[in-house]
Amino acid sequence: MKFETPATTNPIDQLKVVGKPTNRIDGPLKTTGTAPYAYERHDVAANQAYGFVVGAAIAKGRIASMNLADAKAAPGVLAVVTADNAGKLTKGDFNTAKLLGGPAIDHYHQAIALVVAESFEQARAAAALVRVEYARSKGNYDLAAALDGAAKPAASFGVEPDTAIGNFAGAFAEAPVQIDARYTTPDHSHAMMEPHASIAAWEGDKLTVWTSNQMIAWSVGDMAKTLGIPKENIRFDSPYIGGGFGGKLFNRADALLAVLGAKAAGRPVKVALARPLMINNTTHRPATIQRVRLGATAEGKITAIGHQSWSGDLPGGGPETAVAQTRLLYAGENRMTAMRLAVLDLPEGNAMRAPGEAPGLMALEIAVDELAEKLGMDPIALRILNDTQVDPEKPERRFSQRQLGECLTVGGEKFGWAKRNAKPGLVRDGRWLVGMGVAAAFRNNLNGPSAARVRLDRSGVVTVETDMTDIGTGTYTIIAQTAAEMMGLPLDKVVVKLGDSAFPVSAGSGGQWGANSSTAGVYAACVKLREAVAQKLGMNAADAVFADGKVKSGKRSAALGDAAADGELVAEDMMEYGDLAEKYQQSTFGAHFCEVGVDAMTGEIRIRRMLAVCAAGRILNPKAARSQVIGAMTMGAGAALMEELAVDKRFGFFVNHDLAGYEVPVHADIPHQEVIFLDETDPTTSPMKAKGVGELGICGVAAAVANAIYNATGVRVRDYPVTLDKLI
Ligand code: MOS
Repeated sequence: MKFETPATTNPIDQLKVVGKPTNRIDGPLKTTGTAPYAYERHDVAANQAYGFVVGAAIAKGRIASMNLADAKAAPGVLAVVTADNAGKLTKGDFNTAKLLGGPAIDHYHQAIALVVAESFEQARAAAALVRVEYARSKGNYDLAAALDGAAKPAASFGVEPDTAIGNFAGAFAEAPVQIDARYTTPDHSHAMMEPHASIAAWEGDKLTVWTSNQMIAWSVGDMAKTLGIPKENIRFDSPYIGGGFGGKLFNRADALLAVLGAKAAGRPVKVALARPLMINNTTHRPATIQRVRLGATAEGKITAIGHQSWSGDLPGGGPETAVAQTRLLYAGENRMTAMRLAVLDLPEGNAMRAPGEAPGLMALEIAVDELAEKLGMDPIALRILNDTQVDPEKPERRFSQRQLGECLTVGGEKFGWAKRNAKPGLVRDGRWLVGMGVAAAFRNNLNGPSAARVRLDRSGVVTVETDMTDIGTGTYTIIAQTAAEMMGLPLDKVVVKLGDSAFPVSAGSGGQWGANSSTAGVYAACVKLREAVAQKLGMNAADAVFADGKVKSGKRSAALGDAAADGELVAEDMMEYGDLAEKYQQSTFGAHFCEVGVDAMTGEIRIRRMLAVCAAGRILNPKAARSQVIGAMTMGAGAALMEELAVDKRFGFFVNHDLAGYEVPVHADIPHQEVIFLDETDPTTSPMKAKGVGELGICGVAAAVANAIYNATGVRVRDYPVTLDKLI
């Protein structure tokens, strides 16, 4: 089915099942620890051996020599895989550095060997016996020091490095009120609960990988390319995922090494990336240095808006697209944005929840707060004054839906913004200095082609199959809701099967495109199934009504399952997109509010309450969406207050590479969160009229926290995380 013109009324609009705050189908499995994660799939292949990964102990250079004799002779060892004996491997398109390094080393903890043994303990013990001599080369590990050599990168995922509209320099110079400030955001780690893990098994030339992966089709394709075998010979299966946040968009070393280990050992092999290896071995959100310049009239109209961002990556890598939102968020006739990319020899930078906007808004939305203060204006009023219904860079292009102003207004009312004292440092609650902050939230909406297969059996049960993944987001549930709505069934008559590359190819989980895209694919398949049912029952598909497990047409009525009385009915389709997204700028909007207390003596910062107001199309399941947003707000609080990969600039690695050193928020850090979804349907996105929300939830949070800290204390911190040492 091709989606080319805005959606009209369709069965989803009944909202009997879709749009209801439904508990997650996989919730009990996940909360009781019985959802089988990749490493725990003991039953999928007999005789599993264990692989343990050896990571490079240098950041850049070469392996001068490797002595495997002791490791091979250790008890239980079945094989040792290195680049020397692994055969020809081609780097996948989605990886910047090779997943198996050697002799050249591209980054610290790049995998250089896999030791396979009968038990995990034997593999780990033998891995410690792999002797490596390195020849170290000089690398660049310091972003600030690399700025002079930073170059204009190629477009990254369709995001151009530079834009320029009007005369920014002139308008900024003439603006009566100016902000020109530099902000920094550090490297961040996804720190998801479930480490990267895979089990691989070969049967002849057929390969199966049970893994933890957000984008099944991308990763099957990359594995095929890496191994030089047809992708038809590869099956990936990833039904349950303990978090991804972008860290599992592509294959990582666990997958490739499990595959190579299984080949070398001649039996199934499982590999998990140990937590202390993960942070330097896999990807991270790159640090940024950003300069924001805002010029405004005395009344607060922005006349010049400029945003530059510098980030670094390995050779061949891409920039953190931190200026993306600045092209679309506020009006202003004279504009410039620019990204520059330095070559760094740190581990590979890549997408982490709301790549681009998350760190970009950390800077931009402090700058807007600074502008409001300089103008003597309320920060909500300033944002509303500079709101726009058209793409500021392409005014002929309207936003399909844009309720930024409503998000700010509703949020201000609910949060009690009127009680905020605009003068910082004046509100006390005992020993606490109390402040409030606000920031706009923005994240683009993307839709991707997504296919699904639906099967109807004679008992009236519909089974949905798609390679779409559920990374903790609620995919199982919203897909079941979609199929139930389309086929007129209660939720318990729908079975959802995900994450298997044997199923039709979906949009996958990334870029907050998963919910709308994957359910739209299920919608398309269900339209076909409805037609097949009607035909089978001799009814007219156009006037058949699917409700309460029955199909009715005129005076005739039949149980849905009757259509499958003499055999299962199967329908498959893909939702594909025309150029609607070109005609309309599709984005999601929100406003984040935060109240903090800062201990007047010690500088200790406590978040007291948070509110998010989101306008993100139809909310398919308000309960799951709320969970996504409060999780994202929590992650935003981490970015504001604690998350930072500390770079060892001498040796080129992240020092705090475990969950003891890389701090993320815990429940005690987050006292109260509220989420409001504004009523919105967006017929330009798909027949679901939905958008993404899981990344919108983090966008702007950290700036709202930083702005609240400023309001509490009068200390403006522009370098994240905002820790107490920066306040005193
Ligand atoms: Mo997302 S950072 O594209 O999983």
